[in-house]
Amino acid sequence: MPRIIAVSNQKGGVGKTTTAVNLATALALEDFMVLLIDLDPQGNASSGLSVPKTEVSVGVADVLLGFREMPDAVVPTCVDGLHLLPATRELIGLEIELVEASRREYRIKRALSAHAAPYDFVIIDCPPSLNMLTINGLAAADGVLIPVQAEYYAMEGLSELLRAMNQIQKGGLNRELRREGILLTMVDRRTRLCRDVVDQLREVFGTEVFQTEIPRNVRLGEAPSFGRPVHAYDPLCRGAISYTNLALELLDRIGCEADDEDTAAHTEQNLVRSQEAS
Ligand SMILES: Nc1ncnc2c1ncn2[C@@H]1O[C@H](COP(=O)(O)OP(=O)(O)OP(=O)(O)O)[C@@H](O)[C@H]1O
Ligand SMILES: [Mg+2]
Repeated sequence: MPRIIAVSNQKGGVGKTTTAVNLATALALEDFMVLLIDLDPQGNASSGLSVPKTEVSVGVADVLLGFREMPDAVVPTCVDGLHLLPATRELIGLEIELVEASRREYRIKRALSAHAAPYDFVIIDCPPSLNMLTINGLAAADGVLIPVQAEYYAMEGLSELLRAMNQIQKGGLNRELRREGILLTMVDRRTRLCRDVVDQLREVFGTEVFQTEIPRNVRLGEAPSFGRPVHAYDPLCRGAISYTNLALELLDRIGCEADDEDTAAHTEQNLVRSQEAS
């Protein structure tokens, strides 16, 4: 079965979607089969991969409501080995429709139990709130990757999320749920505040914080407007390199290290393929 990673933080604009899209891409470029699930009604992960929610009729909402089986809603992307379960307009207001549904917290978990076998990784982009969509993501996940923006209010958002994760574990929704790691995003080491926040987080959470830091990088902000992951937009920019490093660090942590010699060659070949396709 795949490793299922929810990218979550109820604080808005901290780099969840940027991380979900580019980590999923980096893993696919290492030759893993990856499914990215867009659980956010904003549909940013979908549009960031050229699948705008206004242009697809079947998506994750249909799976949540039991109208479609997951494989009928999954689409390929411009990256070889990366599939997307997109958001559609129906995701807006879906929570209300789910109120009466049985086992409504486990809809994604059920779909993945039945259909995720072909994948090595499932990455779930969660919305910026702790609603039923996020709960579906956290109930299905093995681990939560928590992007934290290196700024003043970072700790506040983080402690709320950790409390919620605790409730999910203790309440029995997902007793196995673990922290996959805390990822520092939009890091700008030129500012003192940023350096202080980074130091404080590393002091409090130690090795739970990924060594890899995602720098503030203009290319990461530009890529989604071209409907591409950063690796297909500017593969040599600092943003692309940092997400590749994150993927390698994650693989190392979970003991599924990519073969070092092969890695560079594969990444290069796959980049060429994904750029030709886009
Ligand atoms: N490392 C970075 N450098 C520069 N810009 C970034 C970086 N990471 C994210 N951004 C930009 O910051 C904005 C917020 O990022 P993103 O959409 O990934 O956050 P989010 O947590 O998913 O937001 P939301 O809570 O709304 O879902 C976007 O415009 C994105 O392009
Ligand atoms: Mg987002």
